[in-house]
Amino acid sequence: MYKNIRAAVMGSINMDFIMSMERMPESGENIVGKTYSYANGGKGANQATALKKLGADVKMIGKVANDSNGALLINNLNSLGVDTADISKDGDVTGLAVIMLDGEGKNRIVVYEGANAQIDPKTASKAIDNSLDLLLVQFETNEEAVTATVNKAISENVLTVVDCGPAKNFSLEKMQGVTVITPNESETKALTGISPDTEDSILAASICLMERSRAKYVVLKLGSRGCSVWDGNNLKIMPTYPSEVVDTTAAGDCFTAAMALELAVSGDIYKACDMGNKAGSIAVSRLGADASMPTYDEVLTIR
Ligand code: RIB
Repeated sequence: MYKNIRAAVMGSINMDFIMSMERMPESGENIVGKTYSYANGGKGANQATALKKLGADVKMIGKVANDSNGALLINNLNSLGVDTADISKDGDVTGLAVIMLDGEGKNRIVVYEGANAQIDPKTASKAIDNSLDLLLVQFETNEEAVTATVNKAISENVLTVVDCGPAKNFSLEKMQGVTVITPNESETKALTGISPDTEDSILAASICLMERSRAKYVVLKLGSRGCSVWDGNNLKIMPTYPSEVVDTTAAGDCFTAAMALELAVSGDIYKACDMGNKAGSIAVSRLGADASMPTYDEVLTIR
């Protein structure tokens, strides 16, 4: 169990509406769904949940609205033991994600950002100080809040991990010197124009991302192929662990959290990515976002 690590997550908090179906509908087609459920989600909240379940002390920085979804999501984080004091509750409406899940566990997601887009950069960055070991951010809030929070963390010597989801061409140049930048395949394409399909294109995209962000490490999440690590000199592709795919939702969030936590503890990026691969392989085998996050002991069972 990871203990004595103080982590902060600045990011989105969403109610997820999940509908499962045999296959995705075509444009203009009306099909019958199999099941539906509401679940706790949002890339930020998912990563906070994963860090907490792995043993870290976690505070969540974000925004919901004073509505029923906001209350449910904050109650859930509180019940897990995540510190929610830095979540503002005065947004217009709490974020909502509609997740369509097909029979192969693949998804399509539409997010209504709501309060997540209204996070105040000054309020968010004020919550960062040098008592933290680790900051995680994603791109599902607003660019100003992400940039301000990351730059405050860098100035306070806090290890900073930037998860680049969802895909958008974010101004990485505005946050120079992060510890790790970690996009998935579509996010890599959106940021660099390069699809990381081959070793050459993985390297080209990694070099581009390092140049733009001056990150210490570029870690590409490559789905069923695992991940790649670029440290400015060497490229290493690290295969993931086999598992039965039920739902890929939040597997990337799980990878990012486990990788970041191990990096904060050991300082070893390869050990960290192995931990991310192991945790992610468990997340894809379970339904839902925060519900799919494993504990530290569960991750250790993966070999
Ligand atoms: O990364 C998965 C998350 O993306 C879901 O929980 C959903 O809320 C969307 O933000």
